[in-house]
Amino acid sequence: MLLLHRAVVLRLQQACRLKSIPSRICIQACSTNDSFQPQRPSLTFSGDNSSTQGWRVMGTLLGLGAVLAYQDHRCRAAQESTHIYTKEEVSSHTSPETGIWVTLGSEVFDVTEFVDLHPGGPSKLMLAAGGPLEPFWALYAVHNQSHVRELLAQYKIGELNPEDKVAPTVETSDPYADDPVRHPALKVNSQRPFNAEPPPELLTENYITPNPIFFTRNHLPVPNLDPDTYRLHVVGAPGGQSLSLSLDDLHNFPRYEITVTLQCAGNRRSEMTQVKEVKGLEWRTGAISTARWAGARLCDVLAQAGHQLCETEAHVCFEGLDSDPTGTAYGASIPLARAMDPEAEVLLAYEMNGQPLPRDHGFPVRVVVPGVVGARHVKWLGRVSVQPEESYSHWQRRDYKGFSPSVDWDTVDFDSAPSIQELPVQSAITEPRDGETVESGEVTIKGYAWSGGGRAVIRVDVSLDGGLTWQVAKLDGEEQRPRKAWAWCLWQLKAPVPPGQKELNIVCKAVDDGYNVQPDTVAPIWNLRGVLSNAWHRVHVYVSP
Ligand code: MTE
Repeated sequence: MLLLHRAVVLRLQQACRLKSIPSRICIQACSTNDSFQPQRPSLTFSGDNSSTQGWRVMGTLLGLGAVLAYQDHRCRAAQESTHIYTKEEVSSHTSPETGIWVTLGSEVFDVTEFVDLHPGGPSKLMLAAGGPLEPFWALYAVHNQSHVRELLAQYKIGELNPEDKVAPTVETSDPYADDPVRHPALKVNSQRPFNAEPPPELLTENYITPNPIFFTRNHLPVPNLDPDTYRLHVVGAPGGQSLSLSLDDLHNFPRYEITVTLQCAGNRRSEMTQVKEVKGLEWRTGAISTARWAGARLCDVLAQAGHQLCETEAHVCFEGLDSDPTGTAYGASIPLARAMDPEAEVLLAYEMNGQPLPRDHGFPVRVVVPGVVGARHVKWLGRVSVQPEESYSHWQRRDYKGFSPSVDWDTVDFDSAPSIQELPVQSAITEPRDGETVESGEVTIKGYAWSGGGRAVIRVDVSLDGGLTWQVAKLDGEEQRPRKAWAWCLWQLKAPVPPGQKELNIVCKAVDDGYNVQPDTVAPIWNLRGVLSNAWHRVHVYVSP
C-alpha cells in the first residue's frame, strides 16, 4: 500500500514535470466541480496488512482523487496571477496544519505534500520550514541540480515581497551588532552571546561537521580582527625571547593537520536540569562537533620563545581578543607538560576543514587541545604566557569544574575542585528523536561516541528495552591512532522491533579503551553547573501500528 501510494504520487510529480497529461487531468477534474475547495491529502502512509483488497483499491482511488485534486489546485494557483508573500507570512507556515512553506531566491513554495517524500527524510526538510532553502542547499550540494529545481517548481505558490530582501539596519550601540551571520539550522541557546548547536539529525550526517553548523560557544561578542595587522604575543622564557607573530609567521612553522572533536563541558546539560535546576545554557546533545584543524604546533612556538619542560608545576595561559565592557578577556590554561609534549599535538590552528577559521570559531587563530574540554580551546588567540599557576580567568577558576551532587551555591568552594581538562567517555543517540514514531519491522538507531584524553571508543551498546538487553552497534569513522583517538566515532544499529511492541526505550552507552563506561543515570552525577553530563542517553519512541 505504501509503495503504491508513493508510486502514484511520484508518477504525478513526474507527469506534472513533463507538463503533459496532468494539465488535462487537472482541467477535467476541475470542470466537474467548480466550487472545489482543496483539501490537503495526508501523505502519512500506513502499511496496515489487515485491510481487505477492496478497501485497498477504494483507498487508493480516494487517495488518487485527493492527490489529483490537490495537484489541480496547485496547477491553477501557479497559473493565476503571482501571489506576493511577506517573509513573516512564509515564516508562519512551519507545520502540516499551517502548511509548510520555504523560499528559494525570490520564489515561495508550499512543500507540505513533499515533506514525507524528501529523500533525505522529512526532518531534514523541516529544518528549513518557514525560511530559505539556500543555507541547506549550500550544505548539501546534491540539491543544486536541474531536476531538483524542476521538482521544486511544481510546488511554487508565489513570490517573496521584494522589500523583504532589504538587509536589516545595523544597531551600532549593540556590542553584538557586528557578530557574523549564522546558519539557520543551528538551534540557538542564546543569541547574545551567541550559543548554538546543530540539530541531532544533521550532527551525525557527516563525520566531519560542516563549518556553518559546527556548534558555537561564545561568552562575549565576536571580535572582528584584521588578518593583516593580527599579532600573537608569546611571552618569552627568562633568558628567551618574546615573540610577536603575524599570521604569515605562524604559517612559516611546520604545518600539522589533525581531526579533533570539540565538546563543551555543558553538552547534554538539559538532562541535568530535569533532575534539579542548574545554572547554564540548556545544551542538548549537540555541544560537540568534529573538524579537521591545521596550524602550527604549540610546542614549536613555545620552543622558539625559549620555553622548555621544567620540574616545577607550570601552566600555559591563553588570552582571547574577545573582551567584556571592562576589558576582561576570555582566558584559560593547560599544563605546560601537555603543551610541550609533541605527542599531545596541541595546535595553534589557522584552518578549519580546509578554510580559514570562521569568525565564530576563532578567526584568525585559536588553540586546539586534542582530548580536552572545549573551554581550553581559546579562540581569537591574542597572548600566550607560561605561569607557575593556572590562568586566573573566571572560566578557569570559577567555572568548568565538577562538584558532588551535595554541593549547592551556598556551600560551593571553587578552589576545592580541579579545573576540567580531559573529558569522560560520552555517547548520544541522534536518530530517532525522542517522542518520534518509528516504523514497525526494523528500527535504525544512529549516534556519536567519544572519549577524552585520546582514549578510543571500543564499543557502543544499544538497548531497545531501557537497558535490560543490549546489542552492539557498528562503529564508523576515521581510524584513530593509539592514545591519540582525538576524534569521535559515529555508530549505527539496525535492529528488529519486537513484534507487538508499541513503544521503545532506546538507550546507548559507550566504552572507551580504558574500559571506562558511562554512568546509567543522571542524578548521581548531577552538579550545580550542569557539566560532565554523560549518563546513558535515552530516547523514548512510539512504534507505528
Ligand atoms: N575562546 C574565547 N576567546 N572565547 C570564548 O567564549 N569559549 C570556549 C572555547 N574558547 C570561548 C573560547 C568554550 S566554553 C568552548 S566549548 C569552545 O570555545 C567552543 O568552540 P566553538 O565555538 O568553536 O565550538
